[in-house]
Amino acid sequence: MENGKKKIMLNVKIIIASTRPGRKGPALASWIFEAAKKQKEFTVEVLDLAEINLPFLDEPNLPRFQKYEKEHTKAWSKIIDAADAFIIVTPEYNYSFPATLKNAFDFLYHEWTYKPIAFVTYGGLAAGTRALQLLKPVVTALKLVPLVESVNISFFTKHIDEHGKFNANEEMEQSADAMLKELLFWGNGLKTMRVAKK
Ligand SMILES: Cc1cc2nc3c(=O)[nH]c(=O)nc-3n(C[C@H](O)[C@H](O)[C@H](O)COP(=O)(O)O)c2cc1C
Repeated sequence: MENGKKKIMLNVKIIIASTRPGRKGPALASWIFEAAKKQKEFTVEVLDLAEINLPFLDEPNLPRFQKYEKEHTKAWSKIIDAADAFIIVTPEYNYSFPATLKNAFDFLYHEWTYKPIAFVTYGGLAAGTRALQLLKPVVTALKLVPLVESVNISFFTKHIDEHGKFNANEEMEQSADAMLKELLFWGNGLKTMRVAKK
């Protein structure tokens, strides 16, 4: 209890969207992971789509029926169902987001619904913002709630050192802080709603 308010713990999953060898996604994910861990109310885990290794959608039934036949779908369903909030770490590929991410969304439906989703995007001058804008209609179809606050990193390679570590500047830290505060706010509200709905 703090100020008479009950503290709700949130299970936050950070999803690395890029899967190609030599990708930079993990460097950015490590940074936002460390920042998110500072929120006492968050339990944070990184989900790497390269490791999760989903095939192209191969379930015969519509996701909303949850009649999964494949073990990889059952495992993915369990992981996403346990989450209260998401942070997507995504590059921009050809003015959009990677197909691996769309595929990961498409496997499930109810497991995503009524949960907040935040974005760390990276790219060239446009900082991945075109990918971000195209993600919004996709995630709202799944009744995910996309946050207004996001972190968009332009010319991101300038911030990756010789050890492969991403070093954020003050503006990025401030953007991350604002986004994480919103994730906590929406995470609390939506979790309360989901519990009441059950
Ligand atoms: C298939 C592909 C398409 C790309 N298209 C864009 C683009 O539209 N805009 C952009 O800013 N960067 C683009 N890039 C450059 C990426 O920002 C850069 O390669 C980044 O490292 C990709 O993320 P990743 O390393 O995690 O895969 C593209 C890269 C790839 C591999």
